[in-house]
Order: sequence, then structure tokens, then C-alpha cells
Amino acid sequence: MNPHTLSLRLERVAAQVPAGARLADIGSDHAYLPVALMRRDAISTAVAGEVALTPFHAAQRTVRDNQLQSQISVRQANGLAAINASDKITAISLCGMGGETIRDILDRGQAHLSGQERLILQPNGGEQPLRQWLMENHYRILFEEVLRENRFFYEIIVAERTGPVTYSAEELYFGPLLLQSRSPMFLAKWQRLLRERQKTLSQLTGARQAVPEQKVQDVARQIRLITELLA
Ligand SMILES: C[S@@+](CC[C@H](N)C(=O)[O-])C[C@H]1O[C@@H](n2cnc3c(N)ncnc32)[C@H](O)[C@@H]1O
Repeated sequence: MNPHTLSLRLERVAAQVPAGARLADIGSDHAYLPVALMRRDAISTAVAGEVALTPFHAAQRTVRDNQLQSQISVRQANGLAAINASDKITAISLCGMGGETIRDILDRGQAHLSGQERLILQPNGGEQPLRQWLMENHYRILFEEVLRENRFFYEIIVAERTGPVTYSAEELYFGPLLLQSRSPMFLAKWQRLLRERQKTLSQLTGARQAVPEQKVQDVARQIRLITELLA
């Protein structure tokens, strides 16, 4: 992958960034997403935020190699601290991190949000707690997608702050829009997860050492939910 050829995952994320956006890509690593979008003239400006030094340097290098220093500001910062009000950011992408990590970045960084930004989120697992945070903070989910690249399934969640919104436990777990559309890719993801959860449950119940009952119950509850979905 490079800024000329994005992975399918980042290509699908790129498709959700509104034309002409002022983008903040947080956890940008090599800054492939903002650089690819800028090279296509798809966005007007970007901030690439990165907390860790090595990926921060990689982002600086990609931006420099593409001579985009005047359009993309690379900043070493924790989460949304990379964003200033004067950036007038209109879209924030947080991709390739666990859903809980993305949730924590959003929660800790609320002071940096105007509430007008489109959030384009691509969690690697932990979608349920992320959707819970979106609901609790009045973000409506406008678009969801499941895709498979190599052996992995990925979800993309796009949300905007529109006012109070209520999602059921099933909608938070599976995704309100994914649940409605029940695409073949969505069903394939949950068929695989069902097999994985069943394996986990049999390992837990067969374990020699005591396993917290709460954990067993949680996995059993997930199996019930997924079985009902696929019935
Ligand atoms: C797996 S990479 C994903 C890179 C890119 N967003 C993508 O989807 O291909 C996750 C990056 O997020 C960065 N990261 C994790 N927590 C962060 C935080 N609190 N603030 C900024 N960056 C963070 C990591 O250092 C890492 O470079």
C-alpha cells in the first residue's frame, strides 16, 4: 500500500470523505489516506495526527515526498489534540484501531470537536462500545459497510451529530444499518464470528482453571444473539 494505491479498506474509507473536506486523519501512520485524497484533489486540506514517533516520521516523509507540506499538516499529538479550532475541520477519520481506542480518543477529545464534523470510523473490533458512545453523544449512524480484505472483515461506520438517537442492543451490536440490509458480506462475517465464539465457549467450559462465570455468560449471550441473527 502507498498513497498511489490504497488498500481496499482505506479506499472504502476514502469514499466516505465528503468532497472538499477539511480532514483530520487521526492515527494516520504513513498518512496514506490524506495524501491519496489530496493527490486526487478530493479534499481541500488535512491534518495527519499521530501519537507515536516512528509513524509520525513516516507520515512526514510521505507528505514531503509528495510535496504536500502546504496542504497537509503532520502533527505529533495524542488523539484529537492534533486538531485546533482554527483548522475548521469538517471530517475526522479514525481508522485501523480497536473500537474502544477510537471511543476513548473521541471521549477524551470532546473539547476539540465542534459537533459539525462527519466522523468516518473504521474500528478493528469493538464496534459495539463505539456505537454505544456515538448514541450516548447524540451521533446518528448514516452509513455502515462490512468489507473483506485478505482474510479479514472490516467495518466502516460514518456518523454525524444530529441530536438524541436510540439504538436497541441488537442495533448496537450488529450495526443499525447493517442489520437492515443483511448483505452477504455482513452475514459471512457473523457466520465466522459465530464459529469463533462457539470455539471460545467450548474452551472456556473445558478449561482446567476456573473461568469467571461472567465471561462464560457473556460469550453465551453473544452466541444467542448471533444465532438469532442468522436463523
Ligand atoms: C494500525 S495503525 C492504522 C493506520 C491508518 N489509520 C490505517 O488505517 O491504515 C494505528 C495508528 O494509530 C496510532 N494511534 C494509536 N493511538 C493513538 C492516539 N491516541 N493518537 C494518535 N494516534 C494514535 C498508532 O500509533 C498507529 O500508528
